[in-house]
Amino acid sequence: MEQERKLSSQTTGKERVLSGIQPSGELHLGNYFGAIQQHLQLQHEYPGECYFFIANYHAMTTTRDRELLHKRTLDAALDYLALGLDPEKATFFRQSDVPEVCELAWFLATVTPVSLLEKGVSYKEKVQRGIPASAGLLTYPLLMAADILIYQATLVPVGEDQVQHIEFTRDMAGFFNNAYGKGETLLRLPVARFSPGKKVPGLDGQKMSKSYGNTIGIFEEGKPLQKKVMGIKTASIPLGEPLDPDNDTVFALYRLVASPEETAEMRERYLEGAIGFGQAKKELLAKLDEHFAEARERRRKLAENLDRVEEILVEGAKRARKLARETLERCRDAVGIP
Ligand code: ADP
Ligand code: TRP
Repeated sequence: MEQERKLSSQTTGKERVLSGIQPSGELHLGNYFGAIQQHLQLQHEYPGECYFFIANYHAMTTTRDRELLHKRTLDAALDYLALGLDPEKATFFRQSDVPEVCELAWFLATVTPVSLLEKGVSYKEKVQRGIPASAGLLTYPLLMAADILIYQATLVPVGEDQVQHIEFTRDMAGFFNNAYGKGETLLRLPVARFSPGKKVPGLDGQKMSKSYGNTIGIFEEGKPLQKKVMGIKTASIPLGEPLDPDNDTVFALYRLVASPEETAEMRERYLEGAIGFGQAKKELLAKLDEHFAEARERRRKLAENLDRVEEILVEGAKRARKLARETLERCRDAVGIP
């Protein structure tokens, strides 16, 4: 199912996986089934070679609230650990604990034309949404490139919206290698890997997204979750009439959390008019509760042991920083900075 998008075949040697998570709001089912699940699978495919970090420097382009940034960073850490990130298999850290990335971003800035940054689709889209057009927002891709290149990552799992940023990263690595490499590859060119899986629909049937206010949080439960599920927008079809499983949000969400057999059975009931939306919603709710029960429990326990969470992040940063320093030292030497 997962399709690897090779932007070129230049990756050589051992794969190193890296991805950043923006702590920009409560994680929702779209994030989980569209991104997080793949991240977590990769730690089993490439044990010891996965680097995941919370991109809190990046979040500063949209969050100007000290407490909020702090809270969201911690929440992202709790969420990922509760969902199964294994610190024995993957290196998990805060972006800001490796400030060397800012220095590499500066190096990249000096070889990158402004015109490249001005082509940024994500930049234009964010400005259109009313996010202040700061220099930080425009140069966001420089920092993201530094994030990837400083660890010499080869494989970057991202959503489709981030693919342009990976292309920019490759361009920037090329500019830098050309300017300073003297035939040597100072910075390895990464490849984007994205799963073109279906978009997870939100409460109103549009793509689930925090910007549309139609999300179901991964860790929502009890009454608030029930209220949301029961409020999912459905077609108005009288009870007993057949329902179309391929054009229905309740079914689209159900199939994500039910087994293939249960999904096939539900499809039959839809087609035969043997179920109404009210009942389907109840069954979806039960499946959501079942699917995330363990993760919720783990999150509760972790939230009571924040020292352990801090320890994991600090330990991760130590490992990541070692790699980052190696790359940065070589780059400093190449540009003539002692
Ligand atoms: P949002 O749209 O809520 O702002 P983000 O852009 O922060 O979400 O998404 C983070 C990751 O989650 C991206 O890799 C994106 O592809 C994935 N993702 C977000 N929403 C969905 C969705 N509805 N369906 C599938 N994947 C999604
Ligand atoms: N820009 C990414 C997003 O919004 C987050 C991110 C920051 C990232 N640095 C990264 C992703 C490096 C992959 C690699 O989702």
